[in-house]
Formats: sequence, structure tokens, C-alpha cells
Amino acid sequence: MRSKNNSCLIALTMGTIFLFMVVFYGATNLHPSSGVKLKTDFQISGKQLYKLDISWPKYSEHFTGQVFGVAVNHLAGLVYVAQRGDNVPKVLVFSTDGDFLQAWNTTTLEMPHGIFLANASSNPSIWITDVGNGPYGHTIKQYSPSGKLMQTLGSAGKAGSAVNPLQFDQPAEIFVHSSGEIYIVDGDGGMNNRLIKLSKDLQILWMHGEKGQGLAQFYIPHSVAVDNYQRVWVADRGNKRIQVFNSVTGDWLGSWGSCFTEDAPYSVRLTHDQKYMVVAQLNTNQVSLLEAPPVGIIGQCQVVSTIQLAEDVKPHLVDIDLKTGALYVAEIGAMQAQKFTPLTLGSNVM
Ligand SMILES: *[C@@H]1O[C@H](CO)[C@@H](O)[C@H](O)[C@H]1NC(C)=O
Ligand SMILES: *[C@@H]1O[C@H](CO)[C@@H](O)[C@H](O)[C@H]1NC(C)=O
Repeated sequence: MRSKNNSCLIALTMGTIFLFMVVFYGATNLHPSSGVKLKTDFQISGKQLYKLDISWPKYSEHFTGQVFGVAVNHLAGLVYVAQRGDNVPKVLVFSTDGDFLQAWNTTTLEMPHGIFLANASSNPSIWITDVGNGPYGHTIKQYSPSGKLMQTLGSAGKAGSAVNPLQFDQPAEIFVHSSGEIYIVDGDGGMNNRLIKLSKDLQILWMHGEKGQGLAQFYIPHSVAVDNYQRVWVADRGNKRIQVFNSVTGDWLGSWGSCFTEDAPYSVRLTHDQKYMVVAQLNTNQVSLLEAPPVGIIGQCQVVSTIQLAEDVKPHLVDIDLKTGALYVAEIGAMQAQKFTPLTLGSNVM
């Protein structure tokens, strides 16, 4: 429709420009110490539980690829950031204070997806799922804290569905319980749609392996976490829901879908106090905090707080510092990881 009134059109245009400036002001901030642009704009709706720690990391120029995953060693105060790209180190190590410490010089990682810090208390190691198609892909690898490959699950470079020996196709994430038992979601869009529980000595204890929309079936199981009440939480990405299982028996306990009509859950992690489930939603650029239900009840999901990140940030997977409660978000689009610290009062300050 053409406007008959030019001044009205000009006013409208200027109004739009003004609005645009208001909305996008601060969408990219110059990082104080490095001059590298970080996307640090965000808004919180609902209860204000976290605030962004703009000083982490101190030097952001170390981010050189697409950041897919993040893992925290809360006892050593270390943050492992997994990134992808040609000729970039696949893992960067920062302190929880924001100092850059090390880039792994390893050729054994192709396309890291999920990353998990296991056994922080006595003998820490870092598990990484690799969805690459090359000679190291379709495997889950265990590394020493300095990046030495210690163990590989699955035959590298061979996508498959076998259970004996275990074979993966784009394994999405691994969660290693303090008991040493291992939970794996396989995978990230390949031929498998499996949730696998392994014993400490890598024997299959139970598995759900059917593709579909029914109970205990999956379509792109993307992230897995176990809470303190023997419940396994799985981000069933392609089905836009979270499914919950008994960690001992593997029995299906429930499903949450109503919070994810707009965008699928990409991550599942519980806050250190087990009060909230942290769910990244990549397409809507949100990190949502959902009420974790009491023992014996799954019920319906309830969003308590939402961190709305800037456009195209694409939050993918998250991790929690189990000591301080800090939340780290791996962001594919913004090519960075961000740290959010909990507000100690946790009350509604909006
Ligand atoms: C990385 O490893 C390669 C091969 O071992 C070596 O040539 C190179 O110097 C190493 N680079 C760094 C920064 O350690
Ligand atoms: C952690 O490491 C210690 C020391 O190597 C080992 O004895 C223990 O079994 C490990 N725990 C788990 C859960 O892997």
C-alpha cells in the first residue's frame, strides 16, 4: 500500500529506525580487553535467577570456531570449551575466573558435539562425542585433562548401530554419573535413536533404541543428564519433548512437551541445587529454566525463567559449575561460550 502522506511516511521511517536502535543497542559489545566482538545482549523474563558475567573470559580472541559444547570441572575451577572449524584447536581450556590456559593440540578430534567432565574428585577426564565423518568420527573419546587420548568407544570412522561391540552414528552426548555408570544419547541425526546405559566396565545395562514418537522412542536424542533422584532426562529434540526414565530400571517415567511447541529442547542439565532444569533452545535463541519436579512426580513442564539471547546466537549445549552454580552456554552462532552466575537471593527482582 502506498502512503499518501509523505511526512507521515518519514515519521514512520524515523520511528522504525529509532526502534531498531533501541532494540539492537548493545547487541554486540566490544570486549573490554581484546577488542573482539562478543554478542552479549540478553533479556530475562520471569524470575531473574542469573546474571551475565561479562568479564568471562578475559580474552575472547581464543574463540576461533563454532562452539558446540562446554564442560566444567568445579573442583579444579576449569572450563573446557569444544569448538569446530578448519585448523582450529578443538578444545580450549579456561579457568572459571576467565583466564585462558590451554588449547588442545590434538588431531584426534574432528567434529566435537557433546563434552563432559567425569570424576572431578579423584581422577578427572573429559569425554567427547565426535560426529565427524572422517577417520576419527562416530566415536566417543576419553581424554586426559591436557588432551591426551586415553580411550575410544566405537570403531572410528565407521557409522553403525551394533551393540556388541558398541558402534555409534553421530553420538550426541555422554553423561558419566559419579558412580562411573555412563549414559549415551546416539544420536545427532544419524541412523540411531538410542539411549544407552553402560556399567562402569562398559557393559550395556539397558537401552531404548527405537525411532518414533511413542513412549520411550526417540527422534534425535540430543542431550542427557541424571538427577539426584535416579531420573534420566533426555532432550528428545526431533520430537520436541523431554523424556524421563528411571536410571536403575530404564523404565519410562514421563514426558514434557508443552514447553517446546515453538522450539525443541537441545540441552538438559540440572542446576547444582537440583531446583531447575536448564534447557537451551537453539532456534529461538533461548535458555530456559524449568521447575524440576519433586521425587515421584514428573507432571507437566513449567518455565520459571527465560534468558533471551541476541539473534543468531544459537545456544546449543550447556553445563553447570557444581560448586558455584555458574551456568555456561555453548553458542554455535555467536562462536563463543558465555558464563551466567546465579543471583544468590534467587528472588523475583523484576
Ligand atoms: C602440535 O603437535 C604437532 C604434532 O605433534 C607439533 O608439530 C606442534 O609443534 C604442536 N604445536 C603446539 C603448539 O604444541
Ligand atoms: C575415579 O578415579 C579413581 C582413581 O583413578 C578411580 O579409582 C575411580 O574408580 C574413578 N571413579 C569413577 C566413577 O570413574
